[in-house]
Amino acid sequence: MLAQRLIERKRDGGRLEAGEWRALTLAYTAGHVPDYQMAAFLMACFIRGLDREETAALTEAMLGSGDRLTLADLGVPRVDKHSTGGVGDKVSLVLAPLIASLGVAVPMMSGRGLGHTGGTLDKLESIPGFRTSLTLTEAKGQLSAIGCALIGQTTEIAPADRKLYALRDATSTVESIPLIASSIMSKKLAEDLTGLVVDIKRGSGSFLPQLERDLELAESMIRLGADHGCPVVALVTAMDRPLGRACGNALEVEEAIHTLKGEGPPDLLELTYALGVEMLLIAGIVESADDARRRMEKAIGTGKAAEHFQKIIEAQGGNPGVVDDPAVLPQADECELFNAPRRGFVARVEPRTVGRGIIALGGGRMKLDERRLRDYGAARRLGRAGRAARNDLRTRPHRGRDRTSSAAAGRRHQ
Ligand code: URA
Repeated sequence: MLAQRLIERKRDGGRLEAGEWRALTLAYTAGHVPDYQMAAFLMACFIRGLDREETAALTEAMLGSGDRLTLADLGVPRVDKHSTGGVGDKVSLVLAPLIASLGVAVPMMSGRGLGHTGGTLDKLESIPGFRTSLTLTEAKGQLSAIGCALIGQTTEIAPADRKLYALRDATSTVESIPLIASSIMSKKLAEDLTGLVVDIKRGSGSFLPQLERDLELAESMIRLGADHGCPVVALVTAMDRPLGRACGNALEVEEAIHTLKGEGPPDLLELTYALGVEMLLIAGIVESADDARRRMEKAIGTGKAAEHFQKIIEAQGGNPGVVDDPAVLPQADECELFNAPRRGFVARVEPRTVGRGIIALGGGRMKLDERRLRDYGAARRLGRAGRAARNDLRTRPHRGRDRTSSAAAGRRHQ
């Protein structure tokens, strides 16, 4: 196989056979094809597209480049949720413990921030001590013990995707439906799932703002799942505004904890329930959507879901005290308050602006959530002198339970 010939063929609108996808993917992963050639090939794919068979072949090649979890012996349904990424999207932090507390195994493999969107791993790592880099053996042990593991893409899973994903990020070739579908599914299929629920974000803050493209992505992922005996359900949900009220790693963990206790913002809670209903239906452990909703409400109302989050945090080396006292998270010691000059509505909060703002402040892809934004949210009514937004700046490292109030210590602009 000569990479240059394959680049030429793709550039000119031709197609590759399954064997060629496999050979090119494996050669690139092994370092036998340099980044500059793969970058040119990815751009040709981005512009020319991949047909169904090619998308399936690329998925298969990336899946086959690494190991897979084998979870059938757990004897329970295994269901994961994947979001195509948004601003303020902390649903995974709520959904994974909630669904696991109801007897479904949730091997949730998440990513880091991409572009203007935040990453679940970065959010989790703002919990003091939390470790997301479990090996597959550790993840399996934890799934068997408590039904959930919140992990990153290990070096063992789809290493070809890992390398290609980084190259796509650097070469502006992310927003391609076949490349996104194959990338996501190569990782999800390695989790040995019995079902997958996909949250496809739509709107100005998503990667694919147009509905037709969202539906195309949904169809592509559903097909790839069906090819491998893994039913996939896709919901297309709003990302024309940040989800919930908090954006930024530690603030999002805090909001997720409130939501697990039934005190979260309504849009976040509703989306969690909508996705959770599909997870429980696909797992086959509920009679109906109403039954699923009732069970989730009960798990939240009785504190069972929050307790399960505590167990997961403890199992992954984090401080479980964060669930009772979110103050153990890193706190800002300076904040700016923006007050509304008159009564009215916050009519438009552009998610990309908020997402980019967080990255500019340094909170996007850093391990600890050093700087955060709070109270940017859905359109909502303001009181006469209502607080419109709060900007938490310059975070000090977490101090455990002896924290003093950040608001009291902070500088305020009224
Ligand atoms: N998430 C992924 O895992 N891959 C993509 O290509 C885009 C989002």
